Amino acid sequence: MSSQCAQRFRKTSFSTYLIAISILTCWNLVGFLILQNHYSGEQRWTFNFFTEYNQVSQFTSPGHQPGLLKNQTERRPLIITKQDLETFQYSTFIFNVSKGRLDSSKRYTIHDFVVNRTDCSHSSYSDSICLATQGSVDRLYWLVDVAGAWEGDISVSVFVPDVEFSVAKVYISFLRHCFVNVKCHVSFHIVYPTHMPPLITSDAPTLNKLTCKAYKEVLEGLLKERPDKFVKWRNKLLYPQNHMRNVARDGCHTDYHLLTDIDILPVPGLAGDLQKFLKKQNRTSSNKIAYVLPTYEVSATVSLPTNKQTILQLVSKGQARPFHQVVFVHNQYATNHSLWEKLPESKVLRAAYPITKYEFFYEPFYVSKMDIPRHDERFIGYGFTRNTQVFEMIMAGYQFQVLDPVFAVHCGLQTRRGRSVWRERQNVINRKLFLRFKKDIIRKYSKQP
Ligand SMILES: *[C@@H]1O[C@H](CO)[C@@H](O)[C@H](O)[C@H]1NC(C)=O
Ligand SMILES: *[C@@H]1O[C@H](CO)[C@@H](O)[C@H](O)[C@H]1NC(C)=O
Ligand SMILES: *[C@@H]1O[C@H](CO)[C@@H](O)[C@H](O)[C@H]1NC(C)=O
Ligand SMILES: *[C@@H]1O[C@H](CO)[C@@H](O)[C@H](O)[C@H]1NC(C)=O
Ligand SMILES: *[C@@H]1O[C@H](CO)[C@@H](O)[C@H](O)[C@H]1NC(C)=O
Repeated sequence: MSSQCAQRFRKTSFSTYLIAISILTCWNLVGFLILQNHYSGEQRWTFNFFTEYNQVSQFTSPGHQPGLLKNQTERRPLIITKQDLETFQYSTFIFNVSKGRLDSSKRYTIHDFVVNRTDCSHSSYSDSICLATQGSVDRLYWLVDVAGAWEGDISVSVFVPDVEFSVAKVYISFLRHCFVNVKCHVSFHIVYPTHMPPLITSDAPTLNKLTCKAYKEVLEGLLKERPDKFVKWRNKLLYPQNHMRNVARDGCHTDYHLLTDIDILPVPGLAGDLQKFLKKQNRTSSNKIAYVLPTYEVSATVSLPTNKQTILQLVSKGQARPFHQVVFVHNQYATNHSLWEKLPESKVLRAAYPITKYEFFYEPFYVSKMDIPRHDERFIGYGFTRNTQVFEMIMAGYQFQVLDPVFAVHCGLQTRRGRSVWRERQNVINRKLFLRFKKDIIRKYSKQP
């Protein structure tokens, strides 16, 4: 990962404005059509947008975008043309609205493997460990970095209510076209509220001359065109975190998996190192073990660290710190980052020390076998989602070991922000649910925490 973390937060460039404006013009009509068709209950609608802009910039700096092929001669065309589209358009996206499955509450509908990764089998590909992750459509651009760093299967569940289905469909195709690692590593699943099914496009939209380099802006452009009425409704919609995690986990067909959130970036080479490590562990260790990946948040102005030495340098300069340290310290506290930072240097991946001071709000990202307890789907929205699963792991007798010298990062230092009222309300509801959950777990494992 040689890209600057800040690169992803840069101000939109002039050419992007040109794209955005052209998209906007054409999409005003689209928004109208979406509204018309959606609210009149029709299942088919059409949209097209063309962008005309002259300053088509070639992608000039190799290795700058981690997801792009490093080998210059193998690099794909960096500009999507109409011809390109004809060859890749949605051919890999299989969606039949009547083929979804329901969650146990019937509130959500799930379609597994709407896009399968293309098997590009190369020698460094890790086939025994899969990265499971999830997110809403507006965060899909993170996959470029995730897939750039992780040389193995990635199973991602995407939340796609209503018109966001079409945004996801276009954008996933775009990412697959531009980034070989997305195409070859990532399989996609979708989830939506049962009462808000996807709107189906009859005609594929056309992305014309949008550069791969502007992948973040392309998504912004697509999202801007969601009807206001929809966005208002959407902002209040609860995100079913634990459903999403379970769907992503189920999409991993490997011996081991690592569950993350979509904006958590593993250090490059992690999948390969883990594969070697796990091969040994598989023979010698008990199944009830989970390997914690120390996680840091790094300043948006610095290059992403690629090894332990560089993360330690950033820590010493105040440009990196334990994930959530300021926002909510208990989140990663038990990992003991200060102990990890002082470990003697190790060239190979190893389990360095066990977690000895578990506390309830602990939410590590960890590697484990597939048969760990499910994420409890009674918890929807914010609060008590990942930590309840970790709590059950502890009750079920799992031991947590901290990995070294590998780690993961979150791009950008987090600061405390006012929590919205509805989010707080959700937390209150989930706190009540938690008392119920705790009772159930104590009964299930016949022991006190
Ligand atoms: C780049 O790809 C070409 C074509 O596949 C291959 O011949 C060449 O050896 C590769 N170069 C490097 C440095 O990997
Ligand atoms: C979608 O699935 C239903 C039910 O299995 C089937 O009857 C229908 O033909 C499918 N539609 C398409 C377009 O494949
Ligand atoms: C992905 O593969 C599964 C079987 O492994 C298949 O059932 C599914 O239809 C495939 N999806 C696509 C989009 O090809
Ligand atoms: C772990 O062991 C199981 C059962 O012995 C075997 O099937 C599997 O391939 C092994 N996985 C790895 C990563 O070595
Ligand atoms: C971290 O490790 C140090 C040194 O072993 C120990 O004194 C401290 O209690 C540990 N803290 C936590 C939270 O585990």
